[in-house]
Amino acid sequence: MTTMSREEAARRIDELVQLIEYHNYRYHVLDDPEISDAEFDQLMRELQALEAAYPDLRRPDSPTQRVGGPPLPDFPKVRHDPPMLSLDNAFGTDELRDFDRRVRSLVADRIGDAPLEYVCELKIDGFSISLRYENGIFVQGATRGDGYEGEDVTENLKTVGSIPLRLRPVDGRVPSVLEVRGEVYMPIKAFEALNERQQLEGKKLFANPRNAAAGSVRVKDPKVTASRKLDSFIYHLVRADGLPPVRTHWESLELLAALGFKVNPHRRLCRGIEEVIAWTAEWQEKRWELPYEIDGLVVKVNDLALREVMGFTSRAPRWAVAYKFPPEERETRVVAITVEVGRTGKVTPTAELEPVRLAGTVVRRATLHNEDYIRAKDVRIGDVVVVRKAGEIIPEVVRVVKEKRQGDLPVWTMPETCPVCGTPLVRPEGEADYRCPNIACPAQTFRQILHFASRDAMNIEGLGEALVQALLDEGLIRDAADLYTLRKEQLVQLERMGPKSAENLLNAIERSKQNPLHRLIFALGIRNVGERAARVLAERFGSIDALARATEEELTAIEGIGPTIAQNVVAYFQSPRNQELLAKLRAAGVRMADEPKPQEAEGPKPLAGMTVVVTGTLQSWSRKEIEELIERLGGRAAGSVSRKTSFVLVGESPGSKLEKARELGVPILTEQEFKERFGLS
Ligand code: IVH
Repeated sequence: MTTMSREEAARRIDELVQLIEYHNYRYHVLDDPEISDAEFDQLMRELQALEAAYPDLRRPDSPTQRVGGPPLPDFPKVRHDPPMLSLDNAFGTDELRDFDRRVRSLVADRIGDAPLEYVCELKIDGFSISLRYENGIFVQGATRGDGYEGEDVTENLKTVGSIPLRLRPVDGRVPSVLEVRGEVYMPIKAFEALNERQQLEGKKLFANPRNAAAGSVRVKDPKVTASRKLDSFIYHLVRADGLPPVRTHWESLELLAALGFKVNPHRRLCRGIEEVIAWTAEWQEKRWELPYEIDGLVVKVNDLALREVMGFTSRAPRWAVAYKFPPEERETRVVAITVEVGRTGKVTPTAELEPVRLAGTVVRRATLHNEDYIRAKDVRIGDVVVVRKAGEIIPEVVRVVKEKRQGDLPVWTMPETCPVCGTPLVRPEGEADYRCPNIACPAQTFRQILHFASRDAMNIEGLGEALVQALLDEGLIRDAADLYTLRKEQLVQLERMGPKSAENLLNAIERSKQNPLHRLIFALGIRNVGERAARVLAERFGSIDALARATEEELTAIEGIGPTIAQNVVAYFQSPRNQELLAKLRAAGVRMADEPKPQEAEGPKPLAGMTVVVTGTLQSWSRKEIEELIERLGGRAAGSVSRKTSFVLVGESPGSKLEKARELGVPILTEQEFKERFGLS
């Protein structure tokens, strides 16, 4: 390669850029590669080597940028013109017909009784983006932001394989300026693999593919975006200066595809709303077969001239609507009814089902709540039932399909003893639930520890069901307080627990010692004391000791605390078992009281004398805002971590400062912890 002259190198670079982008297009956009990954990598390496030898010959559209450039300081703001609006929703077919009537009435003088043409598309559940090309080269990519102003994430978007860095000419021409809108999304498989990796590394899990996509685009380090296997669909042409104008949306989608964008193949041109409705019915089923998530369908008027007439409301175009699917229901058979014991001993019957696909997952169980519910719905083992996901998460039994009941099925009754510890179950007067009265029941202990560690309680990240079960089985813990005695040597002996995960877990456990009081109160799992009540109690009493001394009268006198909670709180602190647990927590160094509230004179100064370093993106504040806030609270915002740093505040995608803090043993606070500690939430 060194024997190549500068001219030869320039020519070869041109060749390679074209070749690589061509193969990239075949792979990412057409999903139809012509060469192997190894051959592709070889071309890429050759280009990288040439660019390293001749840095000035590196082109702005070079595919080498797809691997991600150096980390960025901050994202500049980008104004959207026109703004990136949202869509109005239509639930069910009636609302689709309403939409049709509405838009037709807006252009009645032009179309009369003729049906309107609609383009139906999938509503991709991702992260919206706007892309700008000048003379065919990708120059700017922005997030939606508030619709009027977004953030410049060009370097990150360059790493998304299906976003062209250079447009393909159409009839020998490229537009002088082109702007398009679309969605970056994470395929379901990539999302699952990412979360698995996050879990192994003890990092935060993403709630769904959309959050994962958003989190991957809004990071300061393009290499992180490059590692995330994002994909894109482009569905809207804003402008294409210098190309012949398009008359319809359908044509614009075809133009977008010809220019090299990935346009979703699942689209249909429909004449009239009834054809649209037929298409929505098809997708009710088919949507679960897609390798990515959609959150509905989008119906758009095809004729662009008619769109002009229809115009916009302040939040959405009048010529489009987002169709939302009704919740899915399915029939399946109840093969058994089992009971589960919760952390307070409450026994919940559960229907074990013949596996059935529902809302994208295979459902095997559904809650039956309690014995009365089973009676009221008359659910029996062997029945065919209709199941539905409530809020798309926990399936429930909607009704029994009585016509399908075969023969005489016996009425189900609650077992007499706890299925886990064998203690006779009790149903207290006036309550719907049966309970296992044995406070030492292993099922209760298991659930209590899980609750103690859960997100809204002590928030010990990484401590899930399998791990708690393993710790109990190995005899490493007997109650929640024992978590604070765990040592690394013990953890690494557990299956699937590497030294790194063990360390992360121990850090999370250690951090939880400093939680504010309300978290501890909630974590204790006192019956009927939810998060809200825990906050009220923490605010009023300030410490576990004061709360433990409270009488029923004192408690019921508090706004928001009723007699049931009062009784349960008093009973909780009277139990010798609970007293022992609290003593163990105290001995382990868990904080049992909140700091007294700072006196407000010219505003509280809870950060007085502290030096704070911020790393990563915060949800509630921009970098400038948080620095101002730190100063206002009496602290100093510093740029780098040293032994003198009081704590490091970490946001999304933190930088090397986090590592440094770990090294030096400087306390680390998440945004939530920061807010709680300093009373900002
Ligand atoms: S059209 C003016 N088409 O849904 C154009 N949006 O709720 C308006 N979305 O912000 C958008 N798939 O992020 C359109 N095929 C599709 C879409 C789609 C997903 C998102 C988009 C928009 C949001 C509106």
